Amino acid sequence: MTSSPQINAQRLLQRIADFASIGATQAGGVNRQALSVEDRAARRLLAELAFARGFNVYQDAIANLFISRAGRDPSLPPVLIGSHLDSQPTGGRFDGALGTLSAFEVLEALQDAGVVTERSVEMVSWTNEEGSRFSPGCMGSMAFVGVGDIAGWRDTRGTDGTRLGDELAATLKALPEAKMQPVGHAVSSFVEVHIEQGPVLERAGIPIGLVTSVQGTRWLEVSFIGEAAHAGTTPLEFRKDPMAAAVAAIAQLQLVVMPADPMARLTVGRMSVEPSSVNVIPSKVTFTIDIRHPSKELLSSIEARIDAECRTSAKRHMVDVLIEKRFDLAPGKFDTTVVDVIDSACERLCVPNMKIVSGAFHDALFVSRVAPTAMIFVPCRDGISHNEAEFVTSENIETGAKVLLETALSLARGAMTSYFPSARRPRHLPMSKRAVRKARS
Ligand code: GLV
Ligand code: MN
Ligand code: MN
Repeated sequence: MTSSPQINAQRLLQRIADFASIGATQAGGVNRQALSVEDRAARRLLAELAFARGFNVYQDAIANLFISRAGRDPSLPPVLIGSHLDSQPTGGRFDGALGTLSAFEVLEALQDAGVVTERSVEMVSWTNEEGSRFSPGCMGSMAFVGVGDIAGWRDTRGTDGTRLGDELAATLKALPEAKMQPVGHAVSSFVEVHIEQGPVLERAGIPIGLVTSVQGTRWLEVSFIGEAAHAGTTPLEFRKDPMAAAVAAIAQLQLVVMPADPMARLTVGRMSVEPSSVNVIPSKVTFTIDIRHPSKELLSSIEARIDAECRTSAKRHMVDVLIEKRFDLAPGKFDTTVVDVIDSACERLCVPNMKIVSGAFHDALFVSRVAPTAMIFVPCRDGISHNEAEFVTSENIETGAKVLLETALSLARGAMTSYFPSARRPRHLPMSKRAVRKARS
């Protein structure tokens, strides 16, 4: 018996609450950083829910987790939907989880109704979107589209000193029931639901944003290297103080970058000091800079300005400076056909919507390099995100999931073809036993 598939809002809200209890913080948010014990617990819960519904569950060598509901024609690349389950250290309960659990709700709604789609509908939880524990972010989607360097990332140290390779192997091992598949497979399209993480939709009183593009992001790590010395005995002319150089450079950048361009964003979010003792002039100060802009050229000129200001400050304070680029995500546009499919879905559901540009980066931007992709935004209270106070109304959660279901149904019957070169391996080709052992060791 088939019926028209319906989002079960109560079930979705309950799932969001259940996942928010994994890594829950005192202040009502979550700390479920990539490849952590909490991340593994969330992946296990999702996989168990999927097994209980009879879906196929796969993971790949970077621990992207796929759940597939078979369509009528297995030769057609699937429609992919999903987001991520990892969070910031003091993250909210919706950033990533909303899109992941909305995607799972779509699979369940299709299953409840017994609908047979032409294409398979597959969902994904991408690994390490946030990049807060292990840099860079979007590792899972980067690897999926062939621009990631899994081997090179293995020796990356997390903010807690752990080695990515060890945490990745433990994460894969923690889900032995999920079959291993090679990284990257053909998909016909990708759609990600996400909270807007800004104030535009809420201010406009519009429940759905059709995301047309995403601004660019670069992450730099700047180290000023001086000489440790006694705080009380070292006169100014003898000091090689990297802290003095760092604060001067940061203060100057805050004065010259954002005030000159309302579209530019510059954030120093993390700083470490060595040896970090009250009465020792530091030997080294390292900090991160996150820059954002819709224009690639202007991102480059901000980066050049950072380079110049840091070098000037280093010279003035007689210290050395090292600037390393950790992440570079060029601004990108989403596929207009997929945006139109979402637009038509909203029209059929009578849901008001508006076009919007994403200020945050997302896995969808990487996936857009290999498949027609777009995103659906829902408003969050006061535009607050990357904060435990993040909040989305039940109505907006339900609306986002309904639009995703309607969109997935259209795409699963549509004629979109994969952008993957035909030379790539077909999906779900079994990995050799040796390759599986290597990934999990
Ligand atoms: C995503 O988490 C971002 O920082 O934009
Ligand atoms: Mn996110
Ligand atoms: Mn985030």
